[in-house]
Amino acid sequence: MGVNKMRIIRARDYKDMSEKAASIIWAQMLLKKNSVLGLATGGTVLGIYEILCEKYKEGELDFSSVKTLNLDEYVGLEGRHPQSYRHYMDKNLFEKVNILKNNTFLPNGLAEDLKRECKDYDETIRQLGPIDLQLLGLGRNGHIGFNEPDDHFEDNTHVRRLNETTIKDNSRFFEMGEEVPKSAITMGIKPIMESKAVLLAVSGVEKAKALKAVLNGPVTPSVPGSILGKHENLIVVADLDALMHVE
Ligand code: GLP
Repeated sequence: MGVNKMRIIRARDYKDMSEKAASIIWAQMLLKKNSVLGLATGGTVLGIYEILCEKYKEGELDFSSVKTLNLDEYVGLEGRHPQSYRHYMDKNLFEKVNILKNNTFLPNGLAEDLKRECKDYDETIRQLGPIDLQLLGLGRNGHIGFNEPDDHFEDNTHVRRLNETTIKDNSRFFEMGEEVPKSAITMGIKPIMESKAVLLAVSGVEKAKALKAVLNGPVTPSVPGSILGKHENLIVVADLDALMHVE
């Protein structure tokens, strides 16, 4: 195994976690104006985006040369659907800062030929990559992006059927009675592991077991996030609740 440069930054609570994680993205953008940022969606990273938008408003951040690659998108939701990840990114970050829309990339969940779309997304990642800083949240079942627990790690972009726990967890974002998509296109493990740095943001007791498995457990595809233990430059920013079981 290579030299493990994992760093764990302990935050008091969600707000503190968001501030600390945002400051790392901020520093990355100051160090390299034309950074390629790998971005994530979900509840955890919302506070981070809010802070980045504030910093932009204050004139501290410039997104004009930044390029972004998102981890995933639901299959079957068009970009304007309020629960699509394209919509989430537009609303929570892209439309609030001076990023060029053409420099923001997500898989297209409406592609007629999903296999082709996966290949095309890998090609986009190849052209833009390696990712300078990959932001990640963590699923309650240890997933990263939509790389769900499995018997092997999937290197490339692929269509993934979502686990029942994930569908249940994500149903909170959907309207009552509205169906949560059963599958998604997700970036594979390879570009995540090839990114120059990974920033894993974790908050809350409901993530504590998953975070322990990621940080203290063996590397196994049944906990996809555990592969991050092998990354050469992993930064974990987690609050005390999420860290409660970590040794
Ligand atoms: C979602 C996303 C992941 C995200 C994770 C945690 O399903 N596909 O990229 O990191 O699950 O989400 P949350 O932060 O809402 O708990």
